[in-house]
Amino acid sequence: MSKYLEGKTIAITGGGGGIGRATALACGAHGANVVVADYGVEMDGSDPKSDVADSVVAELEAAGTKAIAVAGDVSKMDTGEQIVAAAVDTYGSIDGVVCVAGNLRERMLFNMSEDEWDAVIAVHLKGHFTLYRHAFNVMRKQETGGSLVGFTSGAFIASTAQANYAAAKGGIISLTRSAALTAASIKARGGPVINANCIAPTARTRMSENVPFEIETGSAEAIAPMAVYLMSDAAREVTSQTYSVVGGRISVWNQPAEVRSMFAPDGGEWTPELIEEWLPKTIKTEVNPFIADLERRMADMAAAEAAKEG
Ligand SMILES: NC(=O)c1ccc[n+]([C@@H]2O[C@H](COP(=O)([O-])OP(=O)(O)OC[C@H]3O[C@@H](n4cnc5c(N)ncnc54)[C@H](O)[C@@H]3O)[C@@H](O)[C@H]2O)c1
Repeated sequence: MSKYLEGKTIAITGGGGGIGRATALACGAHGANVVVADYGVEMDGSDPKSDVADSVVAELEAAGTKAIAVAGDVSKMDTGEQIVAAAVDTYGSIDGVVCVAGNLRERMLFNMSEDEWDAVIAVHLKGHFTLYRHAFNVMRKQETGGSLVGFTSGAFIASTAQANYAAAKGGIISLTRSAALTAASIKARGGPVINANCIAPTARTRMSENVPFEIETGSAEAIAPMAVYLMSDAAREVTSQTYSVVGGRISVWNQPAEVRSMFAPDGGEWTPELIEEWLPKTIKTEVNPFIADLERRMADMAAAEAAKEG
């Protein structure tokens, strides 16, 4: 097997379970030194245990990989700094970060508490910032640059019972695209290459166990090769992309762009009356694919609810 990450040091948040653990093991198998960062929490973020990260480090070491554990909360700036410092102090560099850590606090928007909002935004969105911020600052001074890999979700389009999660996942795409743009400006001035991309995975883990409608899914191990590729020398020019990965399917998302415009008559400005007249016959509306699929989702949810009761 050719090794894609020989000599690189990779930190993986959420590396103690699910997709993060599979990614940590794949990075080790591809020759990387691995920092396993995991707070060892329940799905809602409660009850931290450090043995989750330690047990993946033991698995990596048993397979001949050099690995260390950091058992901190990624929503804290100090933890991001600590993870990056652990990589640099122990192995001499930080060549890739993969932000997989995540939690869920499901609630309809109109019932959601401030705590439920804050907890999810903190772990997902800020949990990317804390790592990207500190890793980027080291990578921009390394001749070999580095790679940032964020974990978003198809739910960034919209979610009925996880508006906090959908908002965080949309924010992760914008944050990662901004990192890619900053990196491009550094490269344009002759600096090192840093690429930044997102993966939108679907895999059978504790997090996807309770999805109340049918979804295409696959193993956690099926996600890892994409993260390995994006951090390898083979993907230095791949940046600012979002890839869905599920089982044997990988898809690329389009770049967000305006699709149609209308201009007010005589070089003037629009009034509500003119917009009412012209919008339906010129730029029209774009359908949210999840609203278009709502009937099927609601039928699946009703069937799942009935099966639980009966
Ligand atoms: N499983 C799926 O189908 C799916 C779908 C879309 C997106 N995702 C995303 O992929 C990522 C991984 O999901 P998973 O299914 O492997 O989840 P998981 O619950 O199996 O694993 C998440 C890991 O993150 C750790 N963690 C949680 N909060 C933390 C914190 N504050 N600091 C450090 N570590 C913390 C947990 O201890 C756990 O080991 C998440 O970002 C999730 O949103 C997963």
